[in-house]
Amino acid sequence: MANHILDIDDLTPDDFDKVIAYGLSPKSEKVMANKSAALLFEKPSARTRHATETAIVALGGHPITVKGDEVGIGKRESVHDLTLTLACYHAVIGARVFDHGVLAEMASAIDGAGAPCSVLNLLSDKAHPCQGVADIITIIQASKEMNLEISNAQVTYVGDSNNVASSLALACAMASVKLVVASPVDFQPEAELIKRVERLGGTIEVVTDPNEGVEGADFIYTDTWTSMGQEAEASVRKEVFRNYQVNELLISKAKKDVKIMHCLPAHRGEEITDAVLDSKSSIVFKQAYNRKLSAIGLLTLMVKKQGGQKWP
Ligand code: CP
Ligand code: NVA
Repeated sequence: MANHILDIDDLTPDDFDKVIAYGLSPKSEKVMANKSAALLFEKPSARTRHATETAIVALGGHPITVKGDEVGIGKRESVHDLTLTLACYHAVIGARVFDHGVLAEMASAIDGAGAPCSVLNLLSDKAHPCQGVADIITIIQASKEMNLEISNAQVTYVGDSNNVASSLALACAMASVKLVVASPVDFQPEAELIKRVERLGGTIEVVTDPNEGVEGADFIYTDTWTSMGQEAEASVRKEVFRNYQVNELLISKAKKDVKIMHCLPAHRGEEITDAVLDSKSSIVFKQAYNRKLSAIGLLTLMVKKQGGQKWP
């Protein structure tokens, strides 16, 4: 398996467990001493940029963050040439991109050259693996406090089956957590994702009615109805998802001590109400904090596994 993480199922189940363990270990090893990472952002970010930069520093490394238009990924020069240039200086290239294919192109350029550098997906149109790992860390911690076996926990994702939902589904499968997805018909998980989840031994129970979906839920998770890059569809999406708001009425249909999750940024009054987001049940800032632990875990695994020839 190549040493790039574009989505959760690029990790073996054993590596997934290691990532969680590295993230949760109280003292990070300085595996990035004398190493650096390039972090490229074609889209805005608060959590991912800060969590990843601070994680790299905690690991003894040096992050360099660059906005997409400063390097012009695939515009100023080809993805191939940019990647192999960055691989001259960095052990890791983390990228947040519009098109998931760009990450695959980066990974293939590195593999073709045999360079000792790894690509980490910091969010694409298809996946958000760093978030998926943070979510499982959060679910593990919260379940402990709830005296709940993680294998008995039910997560219900309400809303758009987007990048965050896809990586969450794969992460739940890796961690043996039951996942229910409540989405409008045209916004449900794709057949290809369901197959990947099944390959990991998991399932996704898909329903259209959010009230039915949250029955028995220990965790209710939601995300924006309009992801970055879909802004032109915002008004149509607002209509489609109108009945999928996570509000007090909806959460009253779940288990009594249900916890509320959101990757953030939240669109208050749209996919989630203030009352729910600000309630005692909300664990959204634990998720935000755990983005750093997730980055520590993922980077530690990648750097420890790194090999390859001298480059260039
Ligand atoms: N959850 C998340 O990825 O947040 P940012 O877009 O702020 O990085
Ligand atoms: N689905 C959202 C997640 C933001 C962290 C987006 O892609 O914009």
